[in-house]
Amino acid sequence: MSTQKKSDRPVKITTQTVVDMKRKGEKISMLTAYDFTMAQIIDQAGIEIILVGDSASNVMAGHETTVPMTLDHMIYHTSCVVRGVDRALVIADLPFMSYQVTTKEALISAGRMMKEAGAHAIKMEGGKPIINSVKKIVEAGIPVMGHLGLTPQSIYKFGTYKVRATEEQEAEELIRDAKLLEEAGCFSIVLEKIPAKLAARVTEEISIPTIGIGAGAGCDGQVLVIHDMLGLNKEFNPRFLRRYADLNTVMTDAVQNYIKDVKSKDFPNEEEQYGG
Ligand code: KIV
Repeated sequence: MSTQKKSDRPVKITTQTVVDMKRKGEKISMLTAYDFTMAQIIDQAGIEIILVGDSASNVMAGHETTVPMTLDHMIYHTSCVVRGVDRALVIADLPFMSYQVTTKEALISAGRMMKEAGAHAIKMEGGKPIINSVKKIVEAGIPVMGHLGLTPQSIYKFGTYKVRATEEQEAEELIRDAKLLEEAGCFSIVLEKIPAKLAARVTEEISIPTIGIGAGAGCDGQVLVIHDMLGLNKEFNPRFLRRYADLNTVMTDAVQNYIKDVKSKDFPNEEEQYGG
């Protein structure tokens, strides 16, 4: 039995909470996390949604794309995050080729993410081609977040990370896909790297919240990759990124000071060692 009084426990964010936030005109904040410690800090800071993104492939594993990520990798990262979170809604990416082959496989992958990792919802990239799978997963009681625009799992099809849906045909398809995802039962949709006007139009035309990354101020919420917004990597500088810290410099200074103290025998001092 929990020893925490009910009144001391944080009110948990649910998929319904974020849908209600759109209705009330309250902006939704979302960040990625991939491990226990980072998830605990972000959750206690008050974020509404934590996304265990397959961007773990880039920032945790050092791959160039998200394509190599496996379902087992994502389950491991998600279970670490879930253990650090008391309040936020934890959404996990289904990785490339864990849901595109058959609807049955998509349902099994989503089920593993919920049962083995403890995710509260899953995210899938794409529109029309995945609609039947989205329906099946939602029918099974698993909340689904969609993802349209620059969908990184399709990078080899796009051939570039530049802004998507700048031409009318792709923009119309994106609007159609957003409506299809809403009809299929998605509770929210990520819009990545599309023109701000198009994102604002999609946001107005659907009743579920849109969460933007490089999609402008008209979305119902915003998401950034935690390593990017904390300034852990210096090389990634897209127009949409705002850096809230320079942890790369903070960490480099700390490590260099540690090396200096070890070499000069300043560390450990009398108080930092055991007597007896
Ligand atoms: O994998 C990820 O981090 C994402 C966000 C960028 C939306 O999908």
